[in-house]
Amino acid sequence: MDKEYIINCKKDETVLEALRRQGIMIRAFCNGRHTCGKCRIMLDEENMSEPAYEEMYLLTDEENAMGARLACFVKPKSDDVENLRVTILDMLESEAPILTGTDELSMSFSMGDISFVAIDIGTTTIAAKMIRAGEVIYTGTRINSQCSYGADIVSRCEEAIKGNSEQLSECLMDDINSIIDELPETPSNVIITGNTTMIHLLMEYPVAEMVNYPFRPYYTGWHKKNIMMDSGKVIPWTIFPNLSAFIGGDIIAGLYYCDFTETDKVNLFIDLGTNAEIALGNREHILTASAAAGPAFEGKKLNVATDVIRCMADLRRNGIFDENGALKDAYFESGYEYRVPGTDKYVTVTQRDIRDVQIAKSAIRAGIELLMRLYGVSMKNIGKVYISGGMGHGLDIKSAVEIGLIPRELESKVTPAGNTSLAGAIKYGDNNFNDADIEEIISISEEIRLSEEKEFSELYYEYMQF
Ligand code: FES
Repeated sequence: MDKEYIINCKKDETVLEALRRQGIMIRAFCNGRHTCGKCRIMLDEENMSEPAYEEMYLLTDEENAMGARLACFVKPKSDDVENLRVTILDMLESEAPILTGTDELSMSFSMGDISFVAIDIGTTTIAAKMIRAGEVIYTGTRINSQCSYGADIVSRCEEAIKGNSEQLSECLMDDINSIIDELPETPSNVIITGNTTMIHLLMEYPVAEMVNYPFRPYYTGWHKKNIMMDSGKVIPWTIFPNLSAFIGGDIIAGLYYCDFTETDKVNLFIDLGTNAEIALGNREHILTASAAAGPAFEGKKLNVATDVIRCMADLRRNGIFDENGALKDAYFESGYEYRVPGTDKYVTVTQRDIRDVQIAKSAIRAGIELLMRLYGVSMKNIGKVYISGGMGHGLDIKSAVEIGLIPRELESKVTPAGNTSLAGAIKYGDNNFNDADIEEIISISEEIRLSEEKEFSELYYEYMQF
């Protein structure tokens, strides 16, 4: 939805910077690096810079014809501009499906009359459910407002390191407040899960040592605090602990939801997103790892990332690219026009897109194989395979097996588990906030740094092939 604002823009700042300074969030997935083309606006002012060639290139012909601009390019021509009328095309609003975990796996509630709201802070989406007396009375979702500072975690951490940590925290506080305002009643408790970076940015903790070597988080324990909400009400918050910089409370909650401490059988858990977190284990020991999936599954061209996997399987099956991932000569330069199944939409799949998927799938698959070797478990002895996260929802398992992301031997064991982070937070509230359940998972979990394992690079190259 488009929305209009009147702002002031200083002479040396871009409209994107001016909007942020005035607390207005806009899609800026590349964080102003002039590559994403998402920060689209309309302006009603002549004293602003003329469109740059690079800017016009990022806009469609239609957008150029209607005079659209990109906020990270436009600056005042000379002096400060007061009362600048800016229309943001496509405000930062939720268009994500509500992924709750409870939609896919049924949950039975045991508790009495306690009420709480569980909130999962994902890098892209924030999802929430309110529970009262064993019933779900609210379900909501938001695009994480920090997307105004870049779609990826690294851009946001760079902003925090530059001194904008307060603004990044405010983005999340605003999102959480807007959820609380929407609830049918004030909850007695707020339970929050999220990856380690999201929790650091929420709490305004330093992140420099976490996103760079030595990848050490500032704090990984529980947070239990009374927080004053915008409404003036004070609500007790519980924020899940994290295991490490890469394995956050969202994964711990997921393992809790999937009963890892209840089973003797070794289960596999994969949270598929921009990063893929992998866990393998049972009630005795859990090995965890994080595999960098890169931009392949961000869904820049296809609507949802899972379509990327289906698309790759289709193209490979039809011989459009070979087992090394090389497009046929006829498509090598221009790319292949792929029709998105069930739609009239075509997207151009380039050699770069295939390489991105190749890199991501081999990293994830090599991570799975390495954890199995280190754990000493074979495919046939794995009980269940839970696929959680945004991409787990609606994942075409057959295609994931076809491109080699998931081992064929595990195909029949796969259970799409939805948003297990949110579901784990609900389970924790339902079990009367029993911290010991969560601490048990942390105490038996061990993190493997894939990049430090020699065997990982060997496996990575082995699984590059389609
Ligand atoms: S082009 Fe990405 S934020 Fe402007």
